[in-house]
Amino acid sequence: MTQVSMTVNGEAVSAEVEGRTLLSDFLRGNLRLTGTHIGCDTSQCGACLVHVDGEVVKSCTMFAAEAAGTEVTTIEGMANPDGSLSAIQQAFQDQHGLQCGFCTPGMVMATASLLKENPKPSVAEIRDYLEGNICRCTGYHNIIKAVLAASGQDVDAMVAG
Ligand code: FES
Ligand code: FES
Repeated sequence: MTQVSMTVNGEAVSAEVEGRTLLSDFLRGNLRLTGTHIGCDTSQCGACLVHVDGEVVKSCTMFAAEAAGTEVTTIEGMANPDGSLSAIQQAFQDQHGLQCGFCTPGMVMATASLLKENPKPSVAEIRDYLEGNICRCTGYHNIIKAVLAASGQDVDAMVAG
């Protein structure tokens, strides 16, 4: 067992974990931050995305011990300080960018990372960036609209239908 310490959503956390404990399991199991979802455990679906030191990471591909000393943000840390939905979360709600919601935490984390790099992405750039995020419900159309809305772009002008 190893003692692992990091900052998660602005709070210092520490726990004893096995060397093989994945960051996703640490977040969900040790910290009870169950907004980070596990859809595949094989780096396919993107449901487990978090930010580690500002970089978007599939938390099922990283050991908790590897994240020691880092600053991690999960979906629980994405709301506004007063608890209201962030602009990205609100855009997903407004544009019906979710149905069951299983993929949504990963989609929101990926969108935040995309908009940090590219504040006004085109539809093609959004599709390309979200390639690693699988949604089994929405057909992606409304997710694209949500990202456009979150970036302050004219959704109807850019997406037909
Ligand atoms: S659970 Fe990590 S990519 Fe699917
Ligand atoms: S909303 Fe159900 S998996 Fe995306």
